[in-house]
Amino acid sequence: MTPKLFVTGITGYIGGSAVDVIIKAHPEYEVAALVRSDDKAELVKSKYSSVRIVKGDLDSVDTIKAECAKADIVLHFADCDHVASAKAITEGLAASDKPKYLIHTSGSALLADISKPERFGATILSEEKYADVSTLSTVTSFPEEGHVHRDVDTIVLASPSNVHTAIVCPPTIYGPGLGVANTRSIQTPGLTKAILKRGKGFTVRGGKNVWNSVHIRDLCALYLLLTEAAVKGGQGADWDTEGYYFAEDGDFSWGELAREITKRAAAKGYLKSAEVEELDVEEVKKLHPFGHVLWGTNSIGKAERARKLGWAPTEKSLLETLDELIEQEAKLQGL
Ligand SMILES: NC(=O)c1ccc[n+]([C@@H]2O[C@H](COP(=O)([O-])OP(=O)(O)OC[C@H]3O[C@@H](n4cnc5c(N)ncnc54)[C@H](OP(=O)(O)O)[C@@H]3O)[C@@H](O)[C@H]2O)c1
Repeated sequence: MTPKLFVTGITGYIGGSAVDVIIKAHPEYEVAALVRSDDKAELVKSKYSSVRIVKGDLDSVDTIKAECAKADIVLHFADCDHVASAKAITEGLAASDKPKYLIHTSGSALLADISKPERFGATILSEEKYADVSTLSTVTSFPEEGHVHRDVDTIVLASPSNVHTAIVCPPTIYGPGLGVANTRSIQTPGLTKAILKRGKGFTVRGGKNVWNSVHIRDLCALYLLLTEAAVKGGQGADWDTEGYYFAEDGDFSWGELAREITKRAAAKGYLKSAEVEELDVEEVKKLHPFGHVLWGTNSIGKAERARKLGWAPTEKSLLETLDELIEQEAKLQGL
């Protein structure tokens, strides 16, 4: 039987990239995609003529439920904070007793306790280092307060018994996306943009805080492995209470990253100097309303489970992609 996939976020950075990799590896899969505008639907159809467009947005809960009832596997990339769609997906998948698979995208900002303002820009504490096998129970029992994405993770983890779930929890993703619309990530492009726009480098209070990173192509390889496992009845992968997957190729400090971006941008003539200022949280918020969270928190989650599945990152490191990123952001700003 041909596997039937229903996906959200096909025009986004993560979803666009992952679906591209999955369709290229498995043109035989039947893919239906939720798309909210006609122009984006045309873009998708122009590249993937076999994809069936489902017109609607994440609040079209009846449409989402009906599509999930028809699908064998759902890949939900669009928004890791959208409660109504997460509920509609799990309810739709539970409409029959048949085993179904949900591969949900969360985000490792979950690991940062943003209710503790003294932690912005601070050195990571050893008890803030997590892993998806050895400390999974901590990761899946954070309180909602202070831990973004946790509300939706909870909905996914409470899926009915016929719905087998895997939550992929990516850290900072870098590298150009592979999809038809947005190919730009969030955190490092945003930091580079803010530095170039401001005309001077900055850190959040010195930037001793640390995150993991992953290249978008490496992340897509994990989505492919999980989708293939789901097609084989879940074989080889962990699901449900154990189905939690970080994906990382190492870690970096946001302060060092900001200094490196500034140094290289200055060498390229986009900044007058390589000077880097330490900004407090309120000043950072003026550059981006969530800048203190995006660039000032700690998030370390070791990808033990993906490696158990045979996944290993092989792409360029974050530092190796910085020149390309600076040129891209400079071009977007007309520099
Ligand atoms: N990028 C990262 O580094 C990263 C890391 C971890 C987690 N995440 C999380 O993963 C999710 C996706 O991230 P992304 O970088 O792929 O974002 P993105 O490039 O903005 O893509 C979002 C996708 O979801 C669709 N979408 C958003 N809201 C929708 C709605 N209300 N109805 C229908 N479609 C909707 C968008 O459609 P349109 O094209 O119509 O806008 C687009 O296809 C976000 O929740 C993000 O916080 C991102």
